[in-house]
Amino acid sequence: MMQPSVLKIRLYGDPCLRKNSSIVKDLGSSEQLLIKSMLATMYEAKGVGLAAPQVGINQRIFVADIGDGPMVFINPQVVKKSGSGRLEEGCLSVPGVNVPVKRAQKILVRFVNEDNQKKEKHFEGLFARVIQHETDHLNGKLIVDYANFSLRQKIKKILKEIREFQKTNGAYRPG
Ligand code: NI
Repeated sequence: MMQPSVLKIRLYGDPCLRKNSSIVKDLGSSEQLLIKSMLATMYEAKGVGLAAPQVGINQRIFVADIGDGPMVFINPQVVKKSGSGRLEEGCLSVPGVNVPVKRAQKILVRFVNEDNQKKEKHFEGLFARVIQHETDHLNGKLIVDYANFSLRQKIKKILKEIREFQKTNGAYRPG
């Protein structure tokens, strides 16, 4: 049995982050190992969420922990949204960049958990925001896509630096 490990995190400029990820059809031992490694990676990076494309796997899986313990979302679908709020978000794949993003305040999410159980749950506030951010990753969308013109000008230099690092070094190992 392979042990979970801290994985390298893909950076802005990596094509993995721009792909539409595939539906997970089978939850076998390789997916379980991936999930455990994603959790280890998220904790090592001190993130509140991590999506599979961020570790180079274009499958519809993300993990999250906003402080109440880990949760695993497989094939998540946001089926209802209400309310909205704008708050600055960061992303482990775009280090040093914060973008205000308007998100729904309350959401209803359908997903499969790590025990292959179908779930339907309401989330609100920070957890709802994290779920919407991570779901964006599964659709190839990043926080920088929400930046307005003036913010784009401000973050241009740092995005260029991240892209250059990405071209030379590929991904980074957190910690
Ligand atoms: Ni992110």
